[in-house]
Amino acid sequence: MLAVLVLLLPSFASTTISTTPASSDQSLEENKLFPIPATTTPPPFAFEGLDENEQCTSDKIIIEKLLENYKSFKTPSEAGVIVWIEVWVQEVNSVNEITSDFDMDIYVTELWMDLALRYEHLNPCKYNLSLNSEILDQIWKPNTVFINSKSANIHKSPFKNVFLMIYPNGTVWVNYRVQVKGPCNMDFSAFPMDRQSCHLTLESFSYNNQEVDMQWMNWTVPLSLLKQEIVLPDFVLTNYSTSIKNEMYPAGVWNELTMTFIFSRRYGWYIFQAYIPTYLTIFISWISFCLGPKMIPARTMLGVNSLLALTFQFGNIMRNLPRVSYVKALDVWMLVCLTFVFSSLLELAIVGSMGARSEIKQNKEEKKEVSRPTSPVSCPSSPRICRNHVPNESVHVFKSYGAADPRMRKKVILTPTGTISRMPNSANRAEKVLLLDGLEETQFTQEDSFVENKNQNRLAKKLRRFTADEIDKISMIAFPGLFTVFNIIYWGYYLNVNE
Ligand SMILES: *[C@@H]1O[C@H](CO)[C@@H](O)[C@H](O)[C@H]1NC(C)=O
Ligand SMILES: *[C@@H]1O[C@H](CO)[C@@H](O)[C@H](O)[C@H]1NC(C)=O
Ligand SMILES: *[C@@H]1O[C@H](CO)[C@@H](O)[C@H](O)[C@H]1NC(C)=O
Ligand SMILES: *[C@@H]1O[C@H](CO)[C@@H](O)[C@H](O)[C@H]1NC(C)=O
Repeated sequence: MLAVLVLLLPSFASTTISTTPASSDQSLEENKLFPIPATTTPPPFAFEGLDENEQCTSDKIIIEKLLENYKSFKTPSEAGVIVWIEVWVQEVNSVNEITSDFDMDIYVTELWMDLALRYEHLNPCKYNLSLNSEILDQIWKPNTVFINSKSANIHKSPFKNVFLMIYPNGTVWVNYRVQVKGPCNMDFSAFPMDRQSCHLTLESFSYNNQEVDMQWMNWTVPLSLLKQEIVLPDFVLTNYSTSIKNEMYPAGVWNELTMTFIFSRRYGWYIFQAYIPTYLTIFISWISFCLGPKMIPARTMLGVNSLLALTFQFGNIMRNLPRVSYVKALDVWMLVCLTFVFSSLLELAIVGSMGARSEIKQNKEEKKEVSRPTSPVSCPSSPRICRNHVPNESVHVFKSYGAADPRMRKKVILTPTGTISRMPNSANRAEKVLLLDGLEETQFTQEDSFVENKNQNRLAKKLRRFTADEIDKISMIAFPGLFTVFNIIYWGYYLNVNE
């Protein structure tokens, strides 16, 4: 079972016995062609030219003999030839979202049997012939192409990166290093937790599968990486596979060999640049609920700033992506975050309007309390009225104010009966408004409906003031609660969408 092979090194002729598995009849044949004594008495200077003992034929002569009557247009076999394909991935150079393609350097191996190139019978010195691309141009090739590539170039520096080896039994092994740019099916619906799949398809351009039956190598892994893992700045190659498909064309059936590469995005950058800042922005927008219903300007500023910050962050990230018309995961995130901030502004609007209304009511009421006949005057929150409050026992109080200009002086008589009378001639509309702060005189005349009205107002005031505070309190719980629920759903969905 052991085939004895002689290795002739260019510098020093030495023989080694290497063992290769081979079929029994082949090893017999080889033993016949190359008898065992040769290994025991090695030819001392069996260089490229003719061997001293005429025991073996050199490469040069073999090639000349092989190409003598060789027709490169002739298919190796009438019955069709199986071309085995293997691909090694050297490096993925880039994955480009804007142009939807990826660029990589690969080694493509093609292996086929060409009986016209058999040289076992020539008693070769070497049991494989390593040749260059010049010879490749002169022999038949399956004309393999990347049928879907945007561009493909065999590396040419410093010379064409093509490897050709011919075995004595006619097996031709061709390997070339190409840089190829292939298309990707970009799907950003899970962006930035997305995966992109990219394809490269190999087929023989000239021969249908009756003549050239292209197959992935089945005795070894047909697609392998030369590196441990391929990591790009924003992608990592997570999965790759091969598939074969028969494609119908008018001229016959072609075997299409497809490699699929799955690139997963490394979304760490987006966590730091998009998610964490938006979290902070959202948290800041919630500070507004703690400030109370009185601090409307501060709360407005917080809300609007949060809205602007979010919009800016959003635009910044989306700038480097193609403008797809469907919803991306980051869109969902940003839009929901914007909605949260917007809702907090709406909440502010509600709280603010309630506060404004209740303040008006409160002011009105305090004025009514001043003019109320029976109850002792108490006006905790309006110093202006308090200063002018009327003691119960006093019947007539002449209060003068607006002392800066004596002509603007107005005398108001406040009586415990709840009526206000003015000195008839010195009445000044503006000053009255200043003092009474919107009180309508008609209310003082409607004495009977006053108590009922007041009770109603107090109730409404209580209700309104309570509600404004309570809305803040509810928001303080509801907003973080809803946001947590949204986070659970969002991350739960998008982190598992690729599985
Ligand atoms: C080519 O032949 C030499 C001996 O002549 C052997 O050592 C080497 O492994 C062979 N290479 C291949 C790829 O078969
Ligand atoms: C031809 O020879 C090579 C090298 O010895 C071997 O790997 C291959 O299996 C052989 N092919 C056939 C069809 O015997
Ligand atoms: C490879 O495929 C060929 C034909 O398609 C088949 O004859 C052979 O048994 C397969 N080899 C292995 C190792 O599967
Ligand atoms: C790679 O993809 C294939 C086919 O889609 C699948 O069967 C396999 O489980 C994947 N491997 C990994 C590690 O995801």
